[in-house]
Amino acid sequence: MKKIIISIFAFMAILSANDSAKEIFMNKCAVCHTMGKPNHQTAVAPPARGVMFHMNEHFANDKEMIQDHINDFVLNPSKDRAICKSVRRFGVMPSQKGNITKEELAKVAVWMTEHLGAMTPKEHNKK
Ligand code: HEC
Repeated sequence: MKKIIISIFAFMAILSANDSAKEIFMNKCAVCHTMGKPNHQTAVAPPARGVMFHMNEHFANDKEMIQDHINDFVLNPSKDRAICKSVRRFGVMPSQKGNITKEELAKVAVWMTEHLGAMTPKEHNKK
């Protein structure tokens, strides 16, 4: 019985950790990276799913994508390391230092990979 209760708490902790990563993304990133349909006239950055489409296309595995790139780029962006082709249109992303902590970003990057990654090339080209 104790085990069951512990697993329920562990499960709830996982759920709420996911929730808060989503909230962080919504509050700190979705201002620029829309979760909805992009409006080409007013967009200031590629849509969230478009970003992850390019991340998935470029990197061989999650470690390279999350730990080596996203966790660093978001705090220390530079034009020569930008993978999204839209850097030509929007310019390089402003550093998110001061907007998001390293710890928050680590959670958000995993959340993005798990929840924003399933876009096919066909869907990507449609928008
Ligand atoms: C002020 C607008 C703005 C905010 C806020 C913003 N971004 Fe960006 N982001 C951009 C733009 C513009 C690009 C495309 C150009 C580039 O890649 O640098 C981009 C690109 C990216 C990329 C792709 C990098 C690459 O290799 O091309 C990732 C990953 C990313 N953003 C994550 C985030 C996360 C996570 C947050 C929230 C902490 C965030 N962004 C907040 C504007 C923003």
